[in-house]
Amino acid sequence: MPVVAMKELLDRALADRYGVAAFNIINDLSIEAVLAAAVEEQAPVILQTSVKTVRMYGRDQLFGIFQALVRDVPVPVTLHLDHCPERSVISDCLAGGWNSVLFDAHELDVADNLAQTVEVVAEAREHGAAVEGEIEGIEGKEDDIGSDEASKLQSLETAVDFIRKTGVDVFAPAIGNAHGQYKKAPNLDHQRVSDLVEATGVPMALHGGTGLSDDQFLDLIARGCAKVNISTAIKEAYMRSGLEHLKEAEEKNKWDPPTLFAFQRDAVVRTAREHIALFGGSGKAW
Ligand code: 13P
Repeated sequence: MPVVAMKELLDRALADRYGVAAFNIINDLSIEAVLAAAVEEQAPVILQTSVKTVRMYGRDQLFGIFQALVRDVPVPVTLHLDHCPERSVISDCLAGGWNSVLFDAHELDVADNLAQTVEVVAEAREHGAAVEGEIEGIEGKEDDIGSDEASKLQSLETAVDFIRKTGVDVFAPAIGNAHGQYKKAPNLDHQRVSDLVEATGVPMALHGGTGLSDDQFLDLIARGCAKVNISTAIKEAYMRSGLEHLKEAEEKNKWDPPTLFAFQRDAVVRTAREHIALFGGSGKAW
């Protein structure tokens, strides 16, 4: 089984300053397509699931699909739970085989968030799993979690203290990034990433990847964003290709589900490959 620890994946990427693409997958087709993209690029890859996707499938069914599809894949893969404020879901996914979780407690006071993240890290370690931490909300909703309002920012000292005391493996700073398509060009605090990595040696997670420019990605990866999250671009590739195909099917009155799925798969593979290559992950599988 090619499944590896999130920490190994990200520590290597941070050391070599490339980004590991973390794609939000939504079903079997997208899991298979993202894995195929990683194999074609010979790249490590992170598959992440929203709480909504876990609930839609049920933990064991979703993990079963992941296991079946990843079994013969010859590149390193990690399964991660994206933004999760609920401790019960965190515990469930850790017990169910996830390799990593984002405990998103940014709505709590930092002190409470810190105390609970320490517990989550201890629990994750019992399963050999990793933890991503967050103390500021990333703007925009991701599968119904989060808010369209900008959240309160914390000082650099507070963030460094949180990372050190909790022992999180990766940290998600709010740097002007946002989930979903950007409504206006983002004004990113690149320096914050450099400062956090320099002070802690811990890799950063870049959220809100969809819509950033190539230059923004490359600069943030060079500063230490070793995990680069892409969700909206995958969802749009999946849905828009489906729509295009279905319009044609209606026009021709020809309805063949496997052709639709193949068309959607190609679109997701293409999108995933483009991101992996841009982030410098191609050829980095071991
Ligand atoms: P996008 O939807 O903007 O790609 O962001 C993905 C993300 O950060 C998932 O947590």
